[in-house]
Amino acid sequence: MLTTEERQEIEVEMARYPTREAVCIDAMKIVQRHRGWVSDESIRDIGELLQMSSADLDGVATFYNLIFRKPVSPHVIMLCDSVSCWIMGYDRIREHLTARLGIQFGETTADNRFTLLPIVCLGACERAPAMTIDNDLYGNLDPASVDRLLEGCK
Ligand code: FES
Repeated sequence: MLTTEERQEIEVEMARYPTREAVCIDAMKIVQRHRGWVSDESIRDIGELLQMSSADLDGVATFYNLIFRKPVSPHVIMLCDSVSCWIMGYDRIREHLTARLGIQFGETTADNRFTLLPIVCLGACERAPAMTIDNDLYGNLDPASVDRLLEGCK
């Protein structure tokens, strides 16, 4: 069940858009901000409020890769796997990250500090290879800079 606060925040967004479908990403982002991710139950509850099917909402959430459909850790690392980053050393960064964290894409570390996910072009191709940590963008990565960034995460 959506909390009163979640429902009120979504209703504010509903007043700003001409259709309920246009609100669905913001609605899922609101729930994710409160809960850390968007469960099947949350999808159903959002669907009831927006009068959309769970299948339609799940399709949007799957396409929009900043909606997490599984629990994630407090620090989410998204490593760009698109062409400029491939050319500029993606493999080296992926290998370093997976070795250092002891996880593969889609996994969370045993201490629940980091979740590692792939993402398409972050729009920072001139700074490839690039990644985000908790929505902050970092580019021109090498193993040493990755280590510094991880060590800076509380
Ligand atoms: Fe990685 Fe564009 S290809 S930021």
